[in-house]
Amino acid sequence: MDLLPLFHNLNGRRCVMVGGGSVALRKIRPLMEVGAKVEIIAPEINTAITELSEKHSLNLHPLTLHKRKFNNDDLEGAALVIAATDDKQINKQVSEQAQKLNIPVNVVDQPELCSVVFPSIVDRSPVQIAISSGGTAPVLARMLRTRLESLIPSGYGYLAQLAGKFRQQVKEKITDANSRKAFWEDVFSGDISELVFSNKQGDAENKLQEKLDNQYAEQASALGEVYLVGGGPGDPDLLTFRALRLMQKADIVLYDRLVSKEVLSLVRRDAELVYVGKTAGDHPVTQDNINEKLVEFAQQGNRVLRLKGGDPFIFGRGGEEIAHLADNGIPFQVVPGITAASGCASYAGIPLTHRDHAQSVRFITGHQKDHKYDLNWSELVAPDQTLVFYMGLNGLETICQQLMSYGMDSTTPAALIEKGTTTRQRVFIGDLDTLPNKVREGGAKAPTLIIVGSVVSLHDQLSWFKE
Ligand SMILES: C[S@@+](CC[C@H](N)C(=O)[O-])C[C@H]1O[C@@H](n2cnc3c(N)ncnc32)[C@H](O)[C@@H]1O
Repeated sequence: MDLLPLFHNLNGRRCVMVGGGSVALRKIRPLMEVGAKVEIIAPEINTAITELSEKHSLNLHPLTLHKRKFNNDDLEGAALVIAATDDKQINKQVSEQAQKLNIPVNVVDQPELCSVVFPSIVDRSPVQIAISSGGTAPVLARMLRTRLESLIPSGYGYLAQLAGKFRQQVKEKITDANSRKAFWEDVFSGDISELVFSNKQGDAENKLQEKLDNQYAEQASALGEVYLVGGGPGDPDLLTFRALRLMQKADIVLYDRLVSKEVLSLVRRDAELVYVGKTAGDHPVTQDNINEKLVEFAQQGNRVLRLKGGDPFIFGRGGEEIAHLADNGIPFQVVPGITAASGCASYAGIPLTHRDHAQSVRFITGHQKDHKYDLNWSELVAPDQTLVFYMGLNGLETICQQLMSYGMDSTTPAALIEKGTTTRQRVFIGDLDTLPNKVREGGAKAPTLIIVGSVVSLHDQLSWFKE
């Protein structure tokens, strides 16, 4: 970060503007809006600025015009200086003198002479968002502003005012900082903010008062909640909006080995992270352990994020976890994620179904129990379907052999996708006969997914993701 963004209180303070043309005018308006006492110094001052100086408003300080050349003494006692002339020599003189006196200075369109820059502003006063490209790409900053303008309803300003009105009361009534944070998050993300956005300010205020009055009752029964969230196969762009919102809200995060570090980096910064991958060192965390932890953390009043790779309901044991929560009366919600089959297939250019190739798709566990498979192989070799094996890397050879021995053609196309959807993705293409060798030679490492069926032959034509 090169520049530190700060918000400058200029109310009632002297600001010197050197220059009296249209560029100066653009900068004068925001200065007047924040209550600065603006003095213009320029031999020529345009009519728009002169007219502005003649307008009197109760809230604003009048503009003072000095129709003459700038001299160094003009800067004494100024809180901010702006040079907006087309004379580079004068601009340089203003900048040097201001910096000598340690007065913040902005020279329009000459970033090298500035000690401060004007950002693009999204104004939802009292909420303000300032965007700067550090003088490198002002057009980009303005485009970003436009995007934010359309994303942030104008009601945010009123929401902040409402919060300001209740701030002291809330502070006195809810003394615990964490509970206070949860209270405000609830206000800003729940039905009170919706009332504000739909222009029902009075109702919003009543509801906020009511919420505060009932706070003790709410606190007494304070029970956390568990969010069972699918984090997708790896690429963070594949998260759902809801997943992201809950990730930003959670106090504690219990995550698995398959959650990519890019996805994990999107959880709330101050959330507590608890790794519960089943291969955690010498002391693997058992499923019972995880179930207990979820209940325990929620009973302490936390919002607990149970973050899983892929989709929590596909080979994710999500069902067992929420059954345990339900038994213990803990509220929960489930957010689906993109499962490895969808993610890997898309990123490998292999459609899982296709009118000419496969009319159904099966998701199968490739995990062996006591080195054996308990699968109905004769059903798996039925024609016109795609088979997707999760957790099948160690059993790849056996899977291929079993399919062939139950009658599937040895030339049936098959693929193995390693670390699908990530920048480290690798795709191995072969058939039932050749794939195991190719994968062994390539040294593939988990996580991997196996796809079997004639859809795999489409990879050559449809592959698009650069590995
Ligand atoms: C315990 S299962 C969890 C599946 C997860 N719930 C889902 O919906 O994708 C783990 C298996 O998912 C597959 N898997 C998950 N992420 C993957 C990825 N990025 N690339 C390839 N396979 C993946 C692998 O087969 C891995 O062994």
